[in-house]
Amino acid sequence: MNKIHAAVTAVNGYVPDYVLTNHELETLVETNDEWITSRTGIKERRILKGEGLATSDLAVPAVEGLLKKRGISAEEIELIIFCTTTPDMPFPATANILADKIGAKNAWGYDLQAACSGFIFGLATGAQFIESGKHTKVLVVGGDKMSAIVNYKDRATCIIFGDGCGAVLLEPDTEGYGVIDSICKSDGSGRAFLHQKAGGSLRPATHETVDANEHYAYQEGQAVFKFAVTNMADVAAEVMERNSLKADDIAWLVPHQANKRIIDATANRTGVSADKVIINIERYGNTTNGTIPLCLWEWESKFKKGDNLILAAFGGGFTWGSIYLKWAY
Ligand code: UT7
Repeated sequence: MNKIHAAVTAVNGYVPDYVLTNHELETLVETNDEWITSRTGIKERRILKGEGLATSDLAVPAVEGLLKKRGISAEEIELIIFCTTTPDMPFPATANILADKIGAKNAWGYDLQAACSGFIFGLATGAQFIESGKHTKVLVVGGDKMSAIVNYKDRATCIIFGDGCGAVLLEPDTEGYGVIDSICKSDGSGRAFLHQKAGGSLRPATHETVDANEHYAYQEGQAVFKFAVTNMADVAAEVMERNSLKADDIAWLVPHQANKRIIDATANRTGVSADKVIINIERYGNTTNGTIPLCLWEWESKFKKGDNLILAAFGGGFTWGSIYLKWAY
């Protein structure tokens, strides 16, 4: 029998309505549109406004739309891997909350935390359950309500992040489509440069941690940039080399959207021409786990069956990785 691959058979996304522009940020912190645009490529990002709304509320419309597109019911989902850095609660897993909200009564699930590389790690992991024959319908969700952990008085971070969510359905394929190869890497010593100081078991929430703004994302941008710009490019090149793929063989490069300059460096390193590089950072900023599935969702209509896609990400941890995906429809 031919090898089973995990094919992406549907994709969908959701971004909240509220648009936070660079000009509005100028009223919150000492910054300007020119600086943000030239240093990051970002013009605006979406924010989930409203009491009682969390990351799972970004996922519900994304997943319900996906199920509708594929013409299946939530009860057919067997496993949900929810890649997120902003879970609704420390526990239970947002995967369980999502399953409850959409009526995925027969699914088990768990959250996967790998910061901005989460969706790559989740896709690589979800693919294993399909390839092994254990499951036939696996939902991989990548989403974050980053506005919940962004300090809108810190110009080093508030200009970058936005809220959004995307999801893909994985199903078995024996004709050579789907996740063909993946490389996932991490280096925990990088945690010094990008983390949330409090709220975990190391520093549980206290009045002091709140007063010291320790529940917000902390980033030393320059240090992260240095690692991101080489590692994301290198890992994308590595997955191409080991599958004997040249730049001309690639239909689409799907990079994590953290900084336009990092995306450009990855395109240069892999040799993929600019017209094949998927970029929506100008409209959504860095949605952390949401960036790659949102790109897949927005470009879905341009993909053709058999297209070679290279997905690549770098994020806190440090974590980084790349996937070679052959589009299945
Ligand atoms: O997705 C997860 C992984 N994260 C990333 O990949 C992010 C990687 N890092 C970056 O994208 C960039 O480092 C940033 C966009 C965060 C910052 O850009 P940068 O070019 O590294 O700027 P910088 O931090 O070196 O700051 C340069 C200057 C500084 O002023 P001086 O010291 O040169 O006078 C900053 O104080 O720009 C200043 N600055 C700003 N100015 C206006 C920093 N933030 C801002 C701002 N507006 N928002």
